[in-house]
Amino acid sequence: MIKEIIQQARAVVVLTGAGVSAESGIPTFRGPNGLWRNFRPEELATPSAFAQNPILVWEWYDWRRQIIAPKGPNPAHYAIANLESYYQQFLLITQNIDGLHQRAGSQKLVELHGNIWRVRCVEEGIISENREVPLRSIPPRCSCGSLMRPDVVWFGEALPPEAMSQAVEAVENCDLLLVVGTSAVVQPAASLPYIAKNRGSYIIEINSETTPISSLINESLIGKAGEILPTLVDSLPRK
Ligand code: OAD
Repeated sequence: MIKEIIQQARAVVVLTGAGVSAESGIPTFRGPNGLWRNFRPEELATPSAFAQNPILVWEWYDWRRQIIAPKGPNPAHYAIANLESYYQQFLLITQNIDGLHQRAGSQKLVELHGNIWRVRCVEEGIISENREVPLRSIPPRCSCGSLMRPDVVWFGEALPPEAMSQAVEAVENCDLLLVVGTSAVVQPAASLPYIAKNRGSYIIEINSETTPISSLINESLIGKAGEILPTLVDSLPRK
């Protein structure tokens, strides 16, 4: 039944969260390994935390960059990248900032929460790539002398408007939404499945546990994304 729905879908959206990178060895936010020096992400990933203590915030990001740098995509990332080629209308919407979807080959994607490998000058707004691990100096500074910040979305900040409008448009027009490895509690990303539901899309959730949206969706597949997704994608006829 699920395999037929996936085969017959015409416009597909995949929404991912930290759980998709868990099997790559990157800690999720709300799991037991997601803590750093007993700070919660909500205490560090905020504009006010950065204003008060940019060194502390950058030390946290430097720690996360050191964890992510040696890690590679896992079978879930590759399965999602393969899925893209099956549909004319396809969009991957990720909340992840680790860049692993791109490394697996995904091209049609929007990053709702930015990317940890980019920095942004707080004065000029100029964005550049920075892959230095560990950072030589904390906090990093722009050539203009101002502080650089990670080019990610913090709590209390708006999402990049273009990414969000692209995401909303895609879920409004999809007939199948796959929600993978997200606790589905952080807004506004968490509202996307509701938009799809209101438009009559079929929704499949893949997660190692149930979430607040499990009762809303059509199929809940409990288990590891890196095991479930390749099985689903391999069931599609070869192209
Ligand atoms: P969370 O850490 O909140 O949730 C991860 C989800 O992945 C949980 O529901 C787990 O059950 C599930 N999970 C873990 N391992 C899995 C696996 N191998 N296969 C399938 N599912 C698995 O991460 P997000 O939902 O991404 O935002 O969090 C959303 C946002 O909150 C993040 O983007 C970040 C965070 O604070 C910002 O920084 C703005």
